[in-house]
Amino acid sequence: MNACLRAVVRTALSKGIEAFGIYRGYEGMIEGDIVQMESHTVSNIIQRGGTILKTARSKRFMTSEGRALAYANLQKHGIDGLVVIGGDGSFRGATVFHEEYGIPIMGCPGTIDNDLFGTDYTLGYDTAVNTVINAVDKIRDTANSHDRMFIIEVMGRDAGFIALRSGIATGAEAVLIPETKTYINELIALLERGWERKKSSAIVIVAEGDDAGGAYEVAEKVKEKFNRYDIRVTVLGHLQRGGSPSALDRLLGSRMGNAAVNALLDGRTSEMVGIVNHDIRYIPFNKATKHHNEVSGYLLELVDVLSN
Ligand code: F6P
Repeated sequence: MNACLRAVVRTALSKGIEAFGIYRGYEGMIEGDIVQMESHTVSNIIQRGGTILKTARSKRFMTSEGRALAYANLQKHGIDGLVVIGGDGSFRGATVFHEEYGIPIMGCPGTIDNDLFGTDYTLGYDTAVNTVINAVDKIRDTANSHDRMFIIEVMGRDAGFIALRSGIATGAEAVLIPETKTYINELIALLERGWERKKSSAIVIVAEGDDAGGAYEVAEKVKEKFNRYDIRVTVLGHLQRGGSPSALDRLLGSRMGNAAVNALLDGRTSEMVGIVNHDIRYIPFNKATKHHNEVSGYLLELVDVLSN
């Protein structure tokens, strides 16, 4: 997100446009927590995780009174275009705000879950996957040395993209995701086959929103019928949302921030900047938030084939 913010500010300044930063998203807009951004205010942030502008969920922005206050604050600063970095909630808010006040708004997809339609990648997703890979590689050492099975929970309340991609990259034996029904018996059969083929350890990656439950629940269900390995659970949690961004995320943030400002200057509004096959695309907010990209059946199959 910082790379994106930096690109927005520097692109605007390069075109002779003033730029403002709004702290804590819509909440800061309502409270008038708005500062003028100069080139140096975004120095040294491209390598930092999180966002220097902070973030917050805003209940007040869901009310027309809240949005009226927010718009008044924008007017006070002469702000006549917005770039919103966020996920579906942010874009839904932006849609209503534009409908009410006509202010042009472009969005950049900021969520580690990769669950927005119309972009191959969202900001933070690649970094989160790399963090998971690092962690699972380390856990694998214990799994191997102690002949254990680890059930590792990754983020993804509604989406299994982090689980699937990191599962393939760590050679996980199985990946459980919300998009597909989980059958514990099938999981056990697969683990049993692995054990018979002399696998001394196993890694199962579970997205937190899987229908079979989180990692602890899955572990309990597996333990009832399968005791070949000593089973341990690790929940990776919020460490997936921090840390220095990957090369891909820095590039993505830089391109998307730049494209968002250029789009506003071209008179576009109410669209999310996406990246598809390495090219910048613009997707209307209502499409981006309605559904997310389907998980690839091919990648799901790949987990099975390669963990054999
Ligand atoms: O934004 C989505 C997400 O990354 C989910 O995958 C996860 O459940 C959630 O954030 C955690 O949010 P919070 O920090 O509010 O607990």
